[in-house]
Amino acid sequence: MKLVIGGDHSSLDLKAAILAHLEARGLAVVDLGTDSTASTDYPVWGRLVGEAVVRGDADAGIAICGTGVGISISANKVKGVRAACVSEPYSAQMAKRHNNANVLAFGARVVGIDLAKMIVDAWLDAEFEQGGRHTHRVGLITELDELYRS
Ligand code: RB5
Repeated sequence: MKLVIGGDHSSLDLKAAILAHLEARGLAVVDLGTDSTASTDYPVWGRLVGEAVVRGDADAGIAICGTGVGISISANKVKGVRAACVSEPYSAQMAKRHNNANVLAFGARVVGIDLAKMIVDAWLDAEFEQGGRHTHRVGLITELDELYRS
């Protein structure tokens, strides 16, 4: 499985920790930046993560800003992205099982490193419950993409 990770200036320490955690799990991860603490605009990084996923450069992406909110909103503007902003493992797991979230977002000013690792693991270890009502519902999300992002 290939992943991309990206975030704004607030994400640096947490992004590095999550990157190391993913690599320790044996996953291939590309860090899209930022690599600086200089103030930067979270939509830039949400867009980069989202575009990398929908282009197929990666199977999924992780996006981090101060709260996770701005970067998830931004990533969700990319057609085909289903970004979930979460702050605990249960929602991370369900975001995969029910929503097939292909981008996971969280806030570096909200979650600590150990909790973020648990969030990432819950999302990665879960499987989308394909074939039933959740496939139908994710299909309805895709319809919205087609309607409003053509
Ligand atoms: C940057 O200060 C902050 O606004 C950003 O990281 C994020 O929390 C926005 O949603």
